[in-house]
Amino acid sequence: MRKILVTGGAGYIGSHTCVELLNSGHEVVIFDNFCNSSPVAIERITEITKKPVTHVYGNILDQQAIEETLTKYQCDTVIHFAGLKSVGESTQNPLSYYENNVAGTVKLLQAMAKCNVKNLVFSSSATVYGEPQFLPLTEDHPLSTTNPYGSSKLIIENILRDLYASDESWSITILRYFNPVGAHSSGRIGEDPRGTPNNLMPYVAQVAVGKLEKLTVFGNDYETKDGTGVRDYIHVTDLALGHLRSIEQIGASQCLEINLGTGVGYSVLEIVEAFKAASNKDIPYQFASRRAGDVASCFAAPKLAKDILGWEAKLGIEQMCQDHWNWQYSNPKGYSLN
Ligand code: NAD
Ligand code: UD1
Repeated sequence: MRKILVTGGAGYIGSHTCVELLNSGHEVVIFDNFCNSSPVAIERITEITKKPVTHVYGNILDQQAIEETLTKYQCDTVIHFAGLKSVGESTQNPLSYYENNVAGTVKLLQAMAKCNVKNLVFSSSATVYGEPQFLPLTEDHPLSTTNPYGSSKLIIENILRDLYASDESWSITILRYFNPVGAHSSGRIGEDPRGTPNNLMPYVAQVAVGKLEKLTVFGNDYETKDGTGVRDYIHVTDLALGHLRSIEQIGASQCLEINLGTGVGYSVLEIVEAFKAASNKDIPYQFASRRAGDVASCFAAPKLAKDILGWEAKLGIEQMCQDHWNWQYSNPKGYSLN
């Protein structure tokens, strides 16, 4: 049993991970400033797990607050989700991305070092692979980035590798997520994007529920099965279980990078069809030109996660769409006004 500080634990992936950690008997302390989430998510975590969740309202830039929290709750491990994640916004306001993501992580690491808490699981992204030079993407694929959000993730990865090289008493697992979608099977927690969604699945879900008129498919001239972009969508519960396995594996001196993906790619049109089937709703769409910065195809080699963590994704595209729809349908306004 571990006592885990979960930064960003009220967010989309963090809340699902807290559910799985609590269900497996771990203790969780959420550290979040709700800049992209709602306190209602924490109430729902308690509702689902029937376990108490400690929550500290705080910013990861506040090193002292982190130190006090680590000490007060005697945490032995940190899962670090807190950060900003919108690619478009990061190109408009790069400094806030470098401040929140990079400087915030440095503060967190300094607090951890000071409190002698040296077990860390970090949320990275497949974005650090840049334009794929080969597929599926293995962890040793060259790293590069095309926007400030991606750069912030790559800088943090490099900081973690440097930190480990300087002090091998750390145990660090860098998880590179592919495309998280879906929601908890209860329909009580899920992704609650602010404003119009940028990502495919939440956009499709809002078309299905009637909040948005139609989907714009960015590009139908890629060299893919039907001309539309192909991605490795992964159910957020599978992702959460990947964190649980990482927590249970962490401990020995290590600094690992591990993909969390399914290894299977679906096109935009395949997602539309799967979501139509799950929701029984029509999903009108129109084609438009390619979105700047998008790649044709991106999917993971998931073998290392299986070898090291004994983890593999179990839930297929039907379940991803069904659970995403269940959440969207029963919470059309997300966490507000419910
Ligand atoms: P999210 O925005 O739902 O959750 C992030 C949480 O961190 C939010 O609750 C937010 O309030 C909190 N937060 C942000 N800055 C903070 C700060 N300075 N101090 C305290 N709390 C702060 O995002 P998510 O989808 O759950 O993503 C979690 C992590 O995984 C992020 O680091 C993200 O970059 C990474 N990631 C996400 C995806 C994805 O598609 N969702 C893909 C790859 C990697
Ligand atoms: C996005 C992020 C990436 C992050 C990843 C995982 C961008 C540019 N990139 O990538 O940094 O690591 O999520 O969360 O935001 N699509 C449409 N219409 C839409 C939205 C998307 O056709 O309205 C298409 C895209 O062109 C792409 C696919 O759907 O082919 C998936 O898009 P999206 O959900 O935004 O994820 P990524 O582009 O993979």
